[in-house]
Amino acid sequence: MQFEEKDIAYPPVHPGTDRTFIRFYGGEPDLNSIFYSSEEENSPQRIFVTDTNVASLKQMQPFVNFFRGENYSQPKIENGFIGTRGKDVLLILGSGEPFKTIESVLAICKAAIDSNAKRSAVFTGIGGGVITDMTAFAASIFKRGATCELVPTTLLSMVDAAIGGKTGCDFDSYKNMIGSFFPAQKIHIIPSFIQSLPENEYRSGMAEVVKTALLYSKELFEKLASKPEILQNRKDPLVEEMIKICVNAKAAVVEQDLTEKNIRMQLNLGHTFGHALETRAGLGKVSHGDAVAWGIARAAELSKKIGLCTENYVQTVKSALSSFGWETQPMHSALNGKFASEKEAALSLFEAMKKDKKNASNKVRFVLQEDVGETVITEVDEKDVLSVL
Ligand SMILES: NC(=O)c1ccc[n+]([C@@H]2O[C@H](COP(=O)([O-])OP(=O)(O)OC[C@H]3O[C@@H](n4cnc5c(N)ncnc54)[C@H](O)[C@@H]3O)[C@@H](O)[C@H]2O)c1
Repeated sequence: MQFEEKDIAYPPVHPGTDRTFIRFYGGEPDLNSIFYSSEEENSPQRIFVTDTNVASLKQMQPFVNFFRGENYSQPKIENGFIGTRGKDVLLILGSGEPFKTIESVLAICKAAIDSNAKRSAVFTGIGGGVITDMTAFAASIFKRGATCELVPTTLLSMVDAAIGGKTGCDFDSYKNMIGSFFPAQKIHIIPSFIQSLPENEYRSGMAEVVKTALLYSKELFEKLASKPEILQNRKDPLVEEMIKICVNAKAAVVEQDLTEKNIRMQLNLGHTFGHALETRAGLGKVSHGDAVAWGIARAAELSKKIGLCTENYVQTVKSALSSFGWETQPMHSALNGKFASEKEAALSLFEAMKKDKKNASNKVRFVLQEDVGETVITEVDEKDVLSVL
């Protein structure tokens, strides 16, 4: 497959993690051509990891069937499948957040150990953020650090999860509680993978796209705001363009601040409000993307409340979010009926934010904006936060 390549560099967190090559591919996914077109004698052993949904995609069959051998005619692909192709291994895990466990990470390590993998093996995650986070984590702990490559297949993993070296899994009902910083050596981005995504997964990724545009590309934000119908038309050329812009923007941020000591925190725009909503609505009741989009609207109102931005900025942001169908009012509908009053709901959301940020005082730190592209990180008093909920 033809590709364009760019690379980003950082101080290494581990030998071999000082550079990431990001490749953008046009056309249909063809993993055989990416990984097997040059039969180099000394090509490294690969431990491929994917999930049952991705392994079942039509465009994946020419690749997966090599590992299924004679079983390829059996339609169902089970969680736990392990197949080989020469020295390479394919492990298929269950799909979605419930499988983002330490057991799945250990299953990846075991598949590598059982195939006598050396530290030179390349752990290659093909999937959404769940698979890319766990494969990279397994790579970071296997024999104290193997190599990682990623093929993100959801919009969210292309523009966000796969870029920037945050790896991990959930533990004991806490999200991403265990993990490491371990940037991939190569990231293979094939935008056409998004054509098969379910509607809700595509919307979820779009919220991160709109967030990235607000932070780093006024031009992209204006294009998206004037074209909400791209939610229905993924073949629009703007879709591929927006993926590239968002990948490049996130790459530029993590290149400067891989371990989130300063500017990488900007990427949390909308997330403090959003996480609180996800927690208080009950995990899984509001999608992460819908929660972030609502959080962006609340962050805009809060920016105005503390005198950072104009009413015009707030209206521009809210009208773009509503045109994509996201809720922008103070109280999200997912909280209806959960609290005795709106005041109680607001207090509960604020408590969740304080807990999320482990903040003992009555202030919480927020990512806010003076305007599109002009971002500020600041602590805000409880009364101001409550006034926008
Ligand atoms: N490391 C980071 O910096 C970072 C950033 C953001 C999110 N994340 C993590 O990413 C995860 C969420 O990622 P996600 O939204 O990609 O979820 P996901 O990996 O669960 O994928 C969503 C669903 O889409 C399916 N799928 C994947 N690709 C598909 C395709 N091309 N066609 C059809 N179906 C497909 C998957 O099987 C799954 O059921 C969370 O665990 C989150 O913590 C990590």
